[in-house]
This record gives sequence, structure tokens and C-alpha cells, in this order.
Amino acid sequence: GRGGYKHFMLKEIHEQPRAIADTLEGRISEGRVLPAAFGVNAEAVFKTIKRIQIVACGTSYHAGMVARYWFEDILRLPAAVEVSSEFHYRNPVLEEGTLLVMLSQSGETADTLAALRMVRVRSPQMPILAICNAPESSLVRESDLVLMTHAGPEISVASTKAFSTQLVALALLMLSIGRIRAILSEQDERRIVAGLEKIPNLARDALQHDEAIMALAERLVDKQHALFLGRGVMFPIALEGALKLKEISYIHAEGYPAGELKHGPLALIDENMPVITIAPQNDLLDKLKSNMSEVAARGAELFVFADERSGLRTEARLHVLPVTSHVGRISAPIIFNLPLQLLAYHVAVLKGTDVDQPRNLAKSVTVE
Ligand code: F6R
Repeated sequence: GRGGYKHFMLKEIHEQPRAIADTLEGRISEGRVLPAAFGVNAEAVFKTIKRIQIVACGTSYHAGMVARYWFEDILRLPAAVEVSSEFHYRNPVLEEGTLLVMLSQSGETADTLAALRMVRVRSPQMPILAICNAPESSLVRESDLVLMTHAGPEISVASTKAFSTQLVALALLMLSIGRIRAILSEQDERRIVAGLEKIPNLARDALQHDEAIMALAERLVDKQHALFLGRGVMFPIALEGALKLKEISYIHAEGYPAGELKHGPLALIDENMPVITIAPQNDLLDKLKSNMSEVAARGAELFVFADERSGLRTEARLHVLPVTSHVGRISAPIIFNLPLQLLAYHVAVLKGTDVDQPRNLAKSVTVE
């Protein structure tokens, strides 16, 4: 059941601290990732890989986009990510030394399975790793290596805890490859593991902003459109925030890398276009602030999900929600995504849509 929550989505949002802890459980020992976490063959496979190709749909695709930043930035390992339906049909080059990583909550998404089977036929020796939430699924059965996310059953069509736990699983994958390939020092591995272990508590704190988020939702509920902006690892989080809002509230929402603003979307900005920015404290914050001034100058109402130390204060048409001040490179996208889930949820509740069963959508997309 819904465990006292009004909707499965809200229940699943609040399950995230537990789901993240469960996904870490048994994969870490004495501050390091267990080499066997990905199965007994993983070590031999990881030794040979030179690059990562991630393939997924929807929210799972966004998790893959976040991981691409980590693999390249932290491991200096080339990583690509693509939606399953495009990867499948564009005749991609399947280079030797690639690890194919398939992400799926359900493990039954038709496009993702079709992409996997295409690779099996065209490049039978390519190792395939699944990160999945459904142990009995086709994806798990057909992959060589598996890391289960321990989110527990996700009932709400809008994916929440599956996304957070996929990100945790991808961080474990990054650490495991970094260790086996001797790319990461033991010290760096321990530092990142310690950061992962803090995420459940950080998530619990980040989910305490319900009241402030409800106030923001009231300002968004009558809008026709919304634009989500982020930079770096927060760009995929902007996409994910926009996807959540559009799928359950039916407000047209777009996510953009903030640096692309002047290359088109700035033309949309006026007082009727709310702009939501994801603004943790990092070396891109100043650039993001200048993007915010550009949209503010055109009359847009701004909703900023910020670090507590950002120095930004709520005023007239600038609404600042201080999310946290304790996140690092790995935890930031996971934590900053949480209030965006709540925002979409509260807007949908105010609009009176069917939150758990949005129109036209299915939980598991088993046809292409
Ligand atoms: C969005 C959503 C969908 C799924 C997508 C992939 O909230 O739920 O975009 O993420 O259909 O599904 P899985 O992960 O089961 O392959």
C-alpha cells in the first residue's frame, strides 16, 4: 500500500534515503568497494575495457548522462550515453574495448532490450552490464554482469527512487573500474566511498523542504511553460526536473544547459516563462548566476535551488530554496534532484492530475 502517503510517488520519494542505503549495503567493506560487487567475472572484464557506452530511456537515460560526467572527469575514461531507440537504429560503431552499460528500472523496456540484442548479434564479444531494479527481468537474464539497484518496487509511473539508486550504482561502477584499472588511488576511493555513505542522511535532510516547495508549486501551477537550467552534472538534472514536471503536471517544461541560453531559448523568456535553476556551489556557479541575470532582465520569475552558502536571497521575482551545503561531485546531482521531484509532485497535486498514473503513459514501456 501507500503506507499513509497520499500517492505512491510521494511514498517513493521519501523512501529514497532507505533505498540509497540499501543499494550501498553489501557492496562496500571497510571504506572500499568490494571487488565482487559486480559478480565474479567483473574483474576480468573491467581490466580490458577502454571506454563506456551507456544506453537507456527516459529517467534512466538521465542517470546515464550524469555518470558520463563522472567517468570522464574522475576516471578520465571515455564515456558516451545515448537513448536506446537511437542507439539501436543508427548503426553505431561498436568499438572493441567498450563496456556496454544498460540502465533500466523495469528491465523490460522494449527499446533497451532491442538495443542489447542488436549488440549481441553484431558484436557478440562485447561485455554487457545491466543496472536494474527488477531481478527477474529480461534485461538481467540477458546481460553478462549485473548490479541490482535495491530501490524496491516502484509503482508510480514517474520514476524517483530508481533514479537515485541508479546513480549510486553508477558511482559504485565508477569506483570499481577505477580500482581494478588502478586509475583511482586508494585514498581517492576511500574519500568517494565516505561521500557515498553520507548520502542517505543528506537525502533525508533535503526532503525536509516540503513547505517551502509547496509555496513554489503554488506559483508554478498556473503556468503554461517552464524552463529548467543547469550546468555540468546539473544539466541532466535540469532535464530530469523538466521531465518529472511535464509527465505528471502536463506543464510544458524543457531542460537546457544554461550555456545554451543565448543560442535560442532566451527568445522564449518573458514574465510568463518561469525559469528554474539548479545551483550548487561549484566552479560553474558564477557562470550560472550571469545566466540568471540574463533571464531576470527579461522579466522571468526565477526559482533557484541553491547551496545554503550561495549568498542568494529571495526577493521580488527571485525565489531561493537553500537545499544543502554539504554536497560533493557525486552527491550533488542525487541530492539536488530530490526537491525537483517534490516540486513536480506538488504542482501535479495542485493541478489535480492523476499523479501515479499520468495520462498516456505506462510504467513499463514494453513496445517500441
Ligand atoms: C520517467 C519514467 C520513464 C522511464 C523510462 C525507462 O519518470 O519513468 O521515462 O524512466 O520509460 O524505463 P526503465 O528504466 O524501466 O527502462
